[in-house]
Amino acid sequence: MQANPQKKEFLDLFQEMNSQGKFIKLTLSKVFKAQEDLKNIYIVPVEIKAEQMLSFTYRSKTQDQVKNYSLEQAKALLSDLLGCSFLQALLVSTTSECQLLISKKGKFKLLKKQSNSVATVASHNKEKKYLISSDNNIYLQKLGVCDASGRVKDKQQDKYRQINRYVELMSSWFAKIDTSKKLQIVDMGSGKGYLTFALYDYLHNQLKLDVSITGVELRGNLVDLCNSIRTECGFENLQFISKDINDFTSEEIDVIIALHACDTATDLAIYKGIKANAELIVCAPCCHKQVRKDMGTSNTFKAITKHGIFEERQAEMLTDAIRSLLMEREGYTTKAFEFISNEHTRKNVMLVGRKLKESGDTEAINLEIKNLKDSFTIKRQELEDLLA
Ligand SMILES: C[S@@+](CC[C@H](N)C(=O)[O-])C[C@H]1O[C@@H](n2cnc3c(N)ncnc32)[C@H](O)[C@@H]1O
Repeated sequence: MQANPQKKEFLDLFQEMNSQGKFIKLTLSKVFKAQEDLKNIYIVPVEIKAEQMLSFTYRSKTQDQVKNYSLEQAKALLSDLLGCSFLQALLVSTTSECQLLISKKGKFKLLKKQSNSVATVASHNKEKKYLISSDNNIYLQKLGVCDASGRVKDKQQDKYRQINRYVELMSSWFAKIDTSKKLQIVDMGSGKGYLTFALYDYLHNQLKLDVSITGVELRGNLVDLCNSIRTECGFENLQFISKDINDFTSEEIDVIIALHACDTATDLAIYKGIKANAELIVCAPCCHKQVRKDMGTSNTFKAITKHGIFEERQAEMLTDAIRSLLMEREGYTTKAFEFISNEHTRKNVMLVGRKLKESGDTEAINLEIKNLKDSFTIKRQELEDLLA
C-alpha cells in the first residue's frame, strides 16, 4: 500500500534527524487501537555497545517497558504504529519540531516549526547524545568512569549508560513535582556517589533548580572520597554524611532516593520518606533477604518455592509488591518498571511513589497485604513493621 505523503515525510524527517545526530526525542500519543493499557511511547537515542540505537519506552498505566531498535527497525515500527495505534506524534530535534496529527478517519496533517529553544538544546548533548557529558567532567574522572580527555573507559561503558538512563528517568519524575521551591533531596545508601553527583549536576547545573542533595552512606571511606570530589567540583549544595539510614533525621525531605540500598535499607529509606511526607520516593530495591527468610515453605506455591532461583524471584516480587501497597496506603501513587536493560544487571527494577493529596483505602489495602502474606506464609515485612 502507498504510504501517506505526510506520514512518509514525517518518517523521512525522523531518519534524517537521526542520521545528522540532531534527533532528541519522539513521543507517540493519542492511543487509537493500541494494545492493553498502553498510554504512549517515548523514543530517545541511545548508544549500545558503541552503536547508535533508539530506545522505545512503552508506557502503560502500571509499568514502563524499554526496548531498543536499530534506526531501520525503528522506522518500520513507527510506520506500523502511526495511524494504526497512535494518532499523534511529536518529533523534536535540535533545530525543529514536527507534529503529525491523524484523524480517526485517517486524514494526516503535518505541522513543522523551527526550534532553537535553550531548554531543548541544553537537555541534549549533541555530540554524545547523553544528558551527562563526560567532557571536562571532574566527578566522572575522579570516580574512574572516564579519563582526562573525557573518553569513557571500556569497562565503565555500562556504568556511564546507567548514570545517563537514571538521570533521564529522574528528569521525568522531577517534571511531575513542584520544583519552584528549594528541594531537599536525600540519597540513602549513596555508595560511591556516581548517581548522586550526576543528579546534582543535572538538576543544579543544567536545569538550574534550587536543590540541596545529601548522600547518606555507612562507609566512611566512600563519604570522604565523595566529599573531596564534591569540593573539587564546587558543588556547594551537595554533601555526603557518614551515617546509618536509621539514624538520619531531617526536618524536611522533598525527595528520597535509595538505589540498590541493601535488603531492608530500602525499607528504612521508604519509611523515612513516608514519615517526612516526601513528594517523591524513588528506589531500586536490592537483595530481598528479609522476606525470603521469613517466607514459609508449606504453601500452595511449593512448586515455585522449592527451586532456589524461583524462590529468590518470588521473594523479590512479594517484597516490592508489599512495599508498593504500603506506599499506596500512605497516600502515594506507585509505579514499578525496569530502568536499565536486564542484560547488564537483574537488579534493575525501580519503584517510584509520588505523594497524592489523599491517602489510600487503608482497610482494602491492609486486606490485600494480608492475603499476599497469608498465601506465601510470610511472617513479617520490614516496612510494614516500621509503619505499624
Ligand atoms: C549497592 S550500594 C549502592 C550505591 C549507590 N546507591 C548506587 O546505586 O550506585 C549500597 C550502599 O548502601 C550502603 N548502605 C547499606 N545499608 C545502609 C544503611 N543502613 N545506612 C547507610 N548506608 C547503607 C552500603 O554501604 C552501600 O554503599
